[in-house]
Amino acid sequence: MKKHILVIPGDGIGAEVTVWGRKALEQIALKFDHDFSFDTAQMGHEAIENCGNPLPDETLDKAKLSDAILFGAVGHIKYDLDPSLTVRPEQGLLKIRKELGLFANLRPILVFDELLGASSLKPEILKGTDILFFRELTGDVYFGEKQLSADRNTASDLMIYHRYEIERIAVKAFEAARNRRGKVCSVDKANVLESSRLWREVIQEVALRYPDVQTQHLFIDNAAMQLIRDPKQFDVILTGNLFGDILTDEASQIAGSMGMLASASVGDKMGFFEPIHGSAHDIAGKNIANPFASVLSAALLLNIGFGLKKEADILTNTISDLLKEGYRTLDISTPETLAKNILGTSEMGELIIDKLKELFPKPYDHVT
Ligand code: IPM
Ligand code: MN
Repeated sequence: MKKHILVIPGDGIGAEVTVWGRKALEQIALKFDHDFSFDTAQMGHEAIENCGNPLPDETLDKAKLSDAILFGAVGHIKYDLDPSLTVRPEQGLLKIRKELGLFANLRPILVFDELLGASSLKPEILKGTDILFFRELTGDVYFGEKQLSADRNTASDLMIYHRYEIERIAVKAFEAARNRRGKVCSVDKANVLESSRLWREVIQEVALRYPDVQTQHLFIDNAAMQLIRDPKQFDVILTGNLFGDILTDEASQIAGSMGMLASASVGDKMGFFEPIHGSAHDIAGKNIANPFASVLSAALLLNIGFGLKKEADILTNTISDLLKEGYRTLDISTPETLAKNILGTSEMGELIIDKLKELFPKPYDHVT
């Protein structure tokens, strides 16, 4: 298969982890005789420093010409400490999502048994959890009109949804549920918000087209509680941009660490694949970030982006094998983890690549 992949490492730990997602893709291409070409581009703080724009035109042009994008993270402490800065790294990410029409953000909560002890929640509550989030990504309060009064005493962000935006992500979520355990839980705040009442109305209409799928509606406050009370009750969770952002960070603790979760943002054409963790400046440059989320993002790129499920499974299984062998990065280590098994980002990355090389010793002897 011939494909062109754009790599956007971004800021903070983005570059440290994305290199391993890319190397994993290169190994897969070599072993399966795929013709993957790569290019790189800038976004976020790095891009602001170099050209004053968090999403340079060149990056957007390259993105539009690629078949898929592997992304790291954007953000910098400088902007977190100074809310008055008007040009901000996150604007790059929001703009590329909008420009590429990436309205559906899929965030699978994949629980590896070996990491049950790494979570702050009880293992018996977590074991067997398998949730797929559908977070709407190009609407909501993220993209509604923003205002700040001249005297800086009043500010507002408009929470807005159009029927078509709700309907198109609902269809994706219900279709996915059909191929899973047949349950969709839609999350909103319809007891308070008008936009949530429209959300609920549209979901109810779409649900009629899927009588084989069981539909449930929860308010966001209740959903946040249910998610850690009994995560196994959920199959597909469908929600808006803001609620989805918050709920998926919460859900990362079910998987043991933010460093374990990957996501796929898709629209009608190409896909954008990224860890759900951010730029994490507190640990950047220390070689302690977890590269698994980037490699799992590469797996989503192969599976969802290119329909290469077998290749994707090889990446996921490689991570599972390393966890079974006891290897951990700091974020997923427990008191039981042996010190010699706690690896830095690059050591864990090398181990992933070594494993992939070992799987098929003869470079051009591909598995069919
Ligand atoms: C995410 C991030 C982004 C978001 C930020 C960096 C704009 O938190 O992808 O979850 O809020 O969508
Ligand atoms: Mn987030």
